[in-house]
Amino acid sequence: MKSLLLIAICVLASKALGYNFPFEAVQLAPADTEAFPAIAFGDADDAHPVQDLHGCRAFPGEPSWPPEEEWKKLNNSLGGALLKPPPPGAVNATTVKHVQMGVNFARNRNLRLVIKNTGHDWIGRAVGAGSLLIWTHHLKDFEFLPQHKQGGFSGMAAKVSSGLESWEMFSFMKRHNMTLVVPSDSTVGAYGGWMTGGGHSPIASLYGLGADQPLSLQVVTADGRFVTADPETNSDLYYALRGGGPGTYGIVTSAVVKSYPSLSFNSVTITFATPDNGTLEPFWRAFAAENQLGKRVTEKPHYGTGYSYVSGSNSTGHYSYDTTYEFPGKSFVEITALIAPHIDELARLGISIAVPKPIVSTRWADASRGRGDVPGNQVFASRLFSARDWEDPAMYADVVAAVRYSVEAGYQFHGIHLAPTEAAASAYYGSSGATAVVPTTRDKSLASYARFNESMTRWRAASPDAGVYVNEADLLEPHWQDAFWGRDNVGSEGWAVETGDFLPSQNGRLCRVSHQNK
Ligand SMILES: Cc1cc2nc3c(=O)[nH]c(=O)nc-3n(C[C@H](O)[C@H](O)[C@H](O)COP(=O)(O)OP(=O)(O)OC[C@H]3O[C@@H](n4cnc5c(N)ncnc54)[C@H](O)[C@@H]3O)c2cc1C
Ligand SMILES: *[C@@H]1O[C@H](CO)[C@@H](O)[C@H](O)[C@H]1NC(C)=O
Ligand SMILES: *[C@@H]1O[C@H](CO)[C@@H](O)[C@H](O)[C@H]1NC(C)=O
Ligand SMILES: *[C@@H]1O[C@H](CO)[C@@H](O)[C@H](O)[C@H]1NC(C)=O
Ligand SMILES: *[C@@H]1O[C@H](CO)[C@@H](O)[C@H](O)[C@H]1NC(C)=O
Ligand SMILES: *[C@@H]1O[C@H](CO)[C@@H](O)[C@H](O)[C@H]1NC(C)=O
Ligand SMILES: *[C@@H]1O[C@H](CO)[C@@H](O)[C@H](O)[C@H]1NC(C)=O
Repeated sequence: MKSLLLIAICVLASKALGYNFPFEAVQLAPADTEAFPAIAFGDADDAHPVQDLHGCRAFPGEPSWPPEEEWKKLNNSLGGALLKPPPPGAVNATTVKHVQMGVNFARNRNLRLVIKNTGHDWIGRAVGAGSLLIWTHHLKDFEFLPQHKQGGFSGMAAKVSSGLESWEMFSFMKRHNMTLVVPSDSTVGAYGGWMTGGGHSPIASLYGLGADQPLSLQVVTADGRFVTADPETNSDLYYALRGGGPGTYGIVTSAVVKSYPSLSFNSVTITFATPDNGTLEPFWRAFAAENQLGKRVTEKPHYGTGYSYVSGSNSTGHYSYDTTYEFPGKSFVEITALIAPHIDELARLGISIAVPKPIVSTRWADASRGRGDVPGNQVFASRLFSARDWEDPAMYADVVAAVRYSVEAGYQFHGIHLAPTEAAASAYYGSSGATAVVPTTRDKSLASYARFNESMTRWRAASPDAGVYVNEADLLEPHWQDAFWGRDNVGSEGWAVETGDFLPSQNGRLCRVSHQNK
């Protein structure tokens, strides 16, 4: 009797008592692992768990790869949730217990572990050859909390699970007449890689980034344990998960996030092109003025966001500029008052266009676009410019010249203006993000990358203090630890995927980088 009681107490104590949703009540208990040691919990003190002789993760076809019976056993324990597409083992997680078993099995059997939510990741963090993959897409639960109290916070909040996508959040906002900070693109996951990597949004200048929204997080850590991370409990994990990098510190199953009153959302689009006589100078003068307006749009009292594109070709000498400014809670009259003097300024610079009319935003709150995105084959690089890059005339001239160089070299420019300032978000991230995009093909990727890198080298030189947004980054960003975080991250430098490809890819084995190669 006594021993039975003890077991019951152990089981209870091992389960996280605080959680948000019924799927999180289904947790792995030490008793579950007795008959199947491959799913046993980890030891937080053991920094160097199982490894093969070459310091590699197990790979299909090799002796260290778990035998078929063991995969069957895992599938049975998971209640049949193990899928077998390429990559070889994908767990369709629908409970916390599934996530815990995936983490424990991978750690105990020396497998490479990958977390995939929507698979939108530009730099391949949601895929991996020969990995066990935990698929969080079906973790979909929501609860509105009209009067939530936690620590110093008192107000509207929402419980959200990590598989929810932006278009689904737009439905919840409509249903509950409130606003949440989510990505503008409908199919991006709102609480997976977007939130843990930073997360920009059309309302980021008003309410901060995705990473500024969680009041608390529910997380499965690398030892398989399910924990709460908030300012009082596991505060280091709470800090690290909000921007520290997707797929690194743990697997988020849900969060409690801040919620805001319902907002009207209006926008205005400005477009112009190179003049008919083919001179480029007026176009680039207008580009420079336009991007100064972009900064003003983000500031008090507007708190807007801008999304711009430059496309064209150096052989025809024709370029066009297109920008949409989004204004949360601003009327058509207020928007026109800001834009009209700027249109006069463009005319003085040689670009004459009519004053554009504001409209109700089409980018925000469309809950009907849940599918339709298809994979592409472009690479990205980006720069998070600071306010100083815009305010110092010499620095600003360098930035504009670097962008011009990359556009004339044939790359598309995509600029995003946002200012999640300390006042708005209790954190400061810089005033303007910009991204360049280059199409690459496998056969000429080396030459094509070197050419692309020439443009990006100019961007970096023009903004030495700036950083890079980890979710929209160059695969080969130099000094990436500093560029992404201003410091080193959690040791991914110690690992490399072995492939024959020039550009980094996930099409090979994951191995420790030997000391000689470091
Ligand atoms: C069409 C498109 C539009 C975009 N629009 C925006 C935008 O408006 N704003 C913006 O900021 N970015 C945008 N991005 C970039 C976006 O932030 C990244 O692609 C981001 O990685 C997406 O996260 P995800 O969870 O949807 O995708 P996934 O590719 O599934 O995951 C991305 C990364 O997050 C990790 N991860 C996923 N879920 C979890 C979890 N529950 N716990 C821990 N780690 C997890 C994965 O391991 C992986 O490393 C866009 C990308 C695309 C392709
Ligand atoms: C896991 O079990 C389910 C249900 O029996 C089955 O449909 C599925 O194919 C199995 N997965 C694998 C990888 O064998
Ligand atoms: C994953 O699980 C969800 C929820 O049970 C189910 O609807 C879906 O069909 C499953 N997906 C696959 C590919 O088995
Ligand atoms: C929705 O919220 C807004 C802002 O708080 C309020 O003005 C409006 O009356 C609410 N609408 C409904 C239908 O409750
Ligand atoms: C070309 O047209 C622009 C816009 O009308 C004008 O500002 C510029 O002076 C013209 N340049 C030449 C060389 O004609
Ligand atoms: C683009 O064209 C301009 C004007 O002809 C030229 O000066 C510049 O060198 C070209 N840029 C590139 C990268 O080819
Ligand atoms: C890109 O250019 C920078 C600056 O010249 C250089 O340090 C870096 O090694 C280059 N990257 C690659 C992959 O060639």
